[in-house]
Amino acid sequence: MVPHHFKSRNAPPKASAMVEALRGLGYNVQTALADIIDNSIAAGASEIRLEFHWAEDRSRISCLDNGSGMNAAEIDRAMRLGERSPLEERSPTDLGRFGMGLKTASFSQCRRLTVASLGTDGLQVLRWDLDYLASSPDNGWHLLEGPAPGSEEHLNSLSNVKHGTLVLWEVLDR
Ligand SMILES: Nc1ncnc2c1ncn2[C@@H]1O[C@H](COP(=O)(O)OP(=O)(O)OP(=O)(O)O)[C@@H](O)[C@H]1O
Ligand SMILES: [Mg+2]
Repeated sequence: MVPHHFKSRNAPPKASAMVEALRGLGYNVQTALADIIDNSIAAGASEIRLEFHWAEDRSRISCLDNGSGMNAAEIDRAMRLGERSPLEERSPTDLGRFGMGLKTASFSQCRRLTVASLGTDGLQVLRWDLDYLASSPDNGWHLLEGPAPGSEEHLNSLSNVKHGTLVLWEVLDR
């Protein structure tokens, strides 16, 4: 029940300010990748492939796993911040706890996070772009659909698995 005896106002954070602040949580590239790998292990992956591609401002890091993958609803939920409460019950094999690691670890290292997953709904791709959020005058949480224009080919390695997830970090500014 919504308490009605206090006067209140809705006070959502500004998306861009919030994610820029989350970048300073104290990850380094090792601990950030460890969070991504935790998720792959929790998804039952038997193989995890990290790729580091250095090409100046087009550099990228990716993590491909052959875990269960996510369907459309799951990847939507996975990309949202503050979607899953730490108070929620978890399976004993789930290494996650806060519902934040994928986003906070990624934002600590890059300004563009693309997650592509092959699950029961076929290929699903969602993306956070901190530069897009910064340039959005409405301060909204604009979760983008599909890969960044020009980055489509970086998802190709997903076709090597029957099901699984690819986490792609681009615009590596750290
Ligand atoms: N590689 C993956 N394969 C399948 N599902 C994934 C993968 N990565 C993330 N997910 C899904 O996205 C959700 C959110 O991941 P995220 O790392 O943000 O939080 P968490 O793992 O639940 O908790 P924590 O903040 O402790 O890491 C996970 O709970 C999982 O359901
Ligand atoms: Mg996690």
